[in-house]
Amino acid sequence: MPEDIKKGLAGVVVDTTAISKVNPETNSLLYRGYPVQELAGTQPFEAVAYLLWHGELPDAGQLAQLRAEERRNRALADDVKAAIDLIPLEAHPMDEVRTAVSVIGAADTSAGGSVLNAGGSPEENLARSIRLFAALPAIVAYGQRRRRGQEIVPPRDDLDYSANFLWMTFGEMPDPVVVDAFNRSMILYAEHSFNASTFTARVITSTLSDLYSAVVGAIGALKGPLHGGANEAVLHIFDEIGDAANVKPWLDEALAHKRKIMGFGHRVYKHGDSRVPTMKAALDTLIEHYGRPDVAELYDTLEREFVARKGIHPNLDYPSGPAYNLIGFDTLTFTPLFVASRVTGWTAHIMEQGASNALIRPLSAYNGPDERHVAV
Ligand code: COA
Repeated sequence: MPEDIKKGLAGVVVDTTAISKVNPETNSLLYRGYPVQELAGTQPFEAVAYLLWHGELPDAGQLAQLRAEERRNRALADDVKAAIDLIPLEAHPMDEVRTAVSVIGAADTSAGGSVLNAGGSPEENLARSIRLFAALPAIVAYGQRRRRGQEIVPPRDDLDYSANFLWMTFGEMPDPVVVDAFNRSMILYAEHSFNASTFTARVITSTLSDLYSAVVGAIGALKGPLHGGANEAVLHIFDEIGDAANVKPWLDEALAHKRKIMGFGHRVYKHGDSRVPTMKAALDTLIEHYGRPDVAELYDTLEREFVARKGIHPNLDYPSGPAYNLIGFDTLTFTPLFVASRVTGWTAHIMEQGASNALIRPLSAYNGPDERHVAV
């Protein structure tokens, strides 16, 4: 391989961004300058969405306006529901979410109407971002309910984003402890610089394609188990291990077969993921609330054993997987939850890319056969 190839773009800085800063040396993550753990401890998710889009936290009036707009766009649209209903129940719910965003995009004829202005104005793209942010919870909630054979639950206008999301999923008023843990998870998942799905969204935007196409592409990238799919994979691992007492033999076997242990490791953080302590604290409140010390024991034992053997630390998916499980989400719903959160970061990046665009088009080094000719 030629020396200057950076496989997987590892270590390559491709552009600037003012949206978030990941510092692997100090294990810190800033959204528009604010440490993510401070935001998670003090803000509703709607305020963090506003921050990512606008660069500043909203004042009371701005937050009220965003909340009103979000409430107006919460209900599952008939055409979106009809499209989801065409998808086999056995399909992965990420396919539902991807399709739903595609349908919303196709219905917004201002988005693709003119190829020359397909990227859209900043105002149009902000409005589209808010609409997607508002629409996704109903899509995710409906996906889980239809797989369980349950009726759709319409949104409630008297509830904020996180409480309403849980209401639409479970059809009962969530406990404040659960709403708080869920709200924190939404904030922690919202943004993480040039990760694979965000970069995908920026690549698509760079061709002057529309915001919906960029989000659909990002959802496809997020589905993979090396990216968003890992929170789901963590639960499969927990199910396989079953009990803390089984961790050592399970790990011996897994490592002997060179298995990747999902929920551990990160391309950027090599000494620990900045978001884990905050999400672990949220998980602890859920463990206490639901009276499940067995989950804490399994979690701690696997972490201790794996870190001792490989020196590789947990990432955000490690605490969020069991947290979502305790709340009552099906394992298949975990990655769609990530979409509902990360759509804020993606759309912020789409707007940033659009504001200072350069077509993203790297080079490749050819290593196929030398020139040859068809025998005649
Ligand atoms: N389990 C076991 N070994 C792991 C590991 C894991 N979760 N993560 C990394 N490693 C090992 C690799 O096997 C490799 O070992 P080697 O040098 O002996 O071959 C080494 O650590 C470097 O890993 P690599 O995959 O090259 O690093 P990366 O920076 O490309 O990978 C991830 C980052 C996230 C893709 C990787 O850590 C991973 O696959 N983790 C599990 C999936 C996951 O949780 N993803 C969510 C990320 S937020």
